[in-house]
Amino acid sequence: AALFAPERVNSRGWDLSEPRHLAQIEAARAPFAQHVYHAAPLLAGSAAPQEARPVHDPAAPDLVVGDVREASPADAETALAGAAPWDAAPKERAMILERAADLFEEHHGEIFALLAREAGKTLPDAVGELREAVDFLRYYASRIDALDAPARGVFTCISPWNFPLAIFTGQIAGALAAGNGVIAKPAGQTPLIGHLAAGLMLRAGVPGTALQFLPGGGEIGAILTREKRRIAGVAFTGSTRTARHIQRSMAEAMAPGTPLIAETGGLNAMIVDSTALLEQAVRDVVISAFQSAGQRCSALRCLYVQEDIAEEFLTMLRGAVDSLRPAHPWRLSSDSGPLIDAAAHEAIADYVEGAAAQGRVLHRGHAPAEGYFLAPTIVSIPGIEALEREVFGPVLHVARFASGKIDAVIDAVNATGYGLTFGLHTRIDARVQHVVDRVTAGNLYVNRNQIGAIVGSQPFGGEGLSGTGPKAGGPDYMARFTRPPAPDGVQ
Ligand code: NAD
Ligand code: ALA
Repeated sequence: AALFAPERVNSRGWDLSEPRHLAQIEAARAPFAQHVYHAAPLLAGSAAPQEARPVHDPAAPDLVVGDVREASPADAETALAGAAPWDAAPKERAMILERAADLFEEHHGEIFALLAREAGKTLPDAVGELREAVDFLRYYASRIDALDAPARGVFTCISPWNFPLAIFTGQIAGALAAGNGVIAKPAGQTPLIGHLAAGLMLRAGVPGTALQFLPGGGEIGAILTREKRRIAGVAFTGSTRTARHIQRSMAEAMAPGTPLIAETGGLNAMIVDSTALLEQAVRDVVISAFQSAGQRCSALRCLYVQEDIAEEFLTMLRGAVDSLRPAHPWRLSSDSGPLIDAAAHEAIADYVEGAAAQGRVLHRGHAPAEGYFLAPTIVSIPGIEALEREVFGPVLHVARFASGKIDAVIDAVNATGYGLTFGLHTRIDARVQHVVDRVTAGNLYVNRNQIGAIVGSQPFGGEGLSGTGPKAGGPDYMARFTRPPAPDGVQ
């Protein structure tokens, strides 16, 4: 009951339909429209000299947002040598994490600006992301009292570029709240927002030995996940492929039982049956597949539409896709931003061209010619088994199913081995229970979109190839960062 009626309240955020809020946000972010950022390792010792490299705006790649001095292997060694658990009293830890949440909210203008410029986030996405980061800080702070086991030591936290603030902060906050130290590595694409967030947490009072920041790519992540003595656990969010790699490194280097908390990819499906309210289903499909240019682990990848409504549904869906206007995310009218970088753009554009060559592209919407934008695209497939991998962009696959064949659809979805999100649109109550009982998915949504889980009330995380659990933003998350008591009689 406490989970669904918590005393703690989530961040109020900003209501973008309210002109006062919008005007306030515009004024708050304006000073950061052209600010040039500099990121570097934040260490408990001194960093080795290193050349900086520029960070570009993915919506306008000629623009430089700032630069980063990435961590070297020597910096990783310095961080490992200087790292220590956070030994402050529980009350003090909670107070400092709360203060960090306050500082994040105070800096909302700068955070919205940097999320747009470095990570291609539209304002609604940036608002959602800041709220989630603040909620993680406050939620884990509020659960410190309920902990009944000691911290493990020092955690490596490795995060992806698609939630460079919320996931970066959530992992760190969970580990710190439990009393661990953290060495945090952001994604190579988003060092600036990570640097800003880590700096605010340090300013709030987290000691420099308990939180160190190592910007860099997979090489630095690899050092921090095969370290024999000083790392007590790893919190990772990213692709299933990288999680497997980390798991192998940890198995070779670390003590058996060292925890790996891995939140990974998904092949997420939705079923729309012939009783669904079509207008609502179309809107929810568009949000699920194309918001954030499809760059959410939760995003809809494979839509199953019941055969008898498929033509009508697709006609409506094409119209809705045509109304989307991707544009530079700084613009308030932008419906979605670009892909994160040139490599992602090239890979997904190639994928769409391959589908087009096979005559499987049903529809393409609009996209600006400049920047790493890709038009929202609908591709036909026979079923989810035809998807070899997660296509991490604005590409929606559509399959049809016949009346009476819903169990075959569920079997095919379960057989992928992934289990992150799942959506269902139906007006048959008994069908809801039938599907809920059979689908393997961490987060299942009925008659709504399937993205944007809320800290505290919708803990987020997958099963199978989609993650190890425990769910982020839920009551079990922090326990994994603590050392469980030995069974009775074991010393
Ligand atoms: P990625 O796996 O390429 O990278 C994730 C992080 O791992 C980055 O910080 C990267 O530098 C680091 N890394 C890469 N190689 C490494 C190695 N050998 N050792 C240690 N660290 C290494 O993923 P990405 O492209 O940044 O993010 C997109 C992926 O993340 C998608 O698959 C998406 O579904 C998934 N994701 C999952 C969730 C979730 O909660 N389940 C949330 C967001 C994103
Ligand atoms: N927590 C994010 C969502 O639900 C990934 O969309």
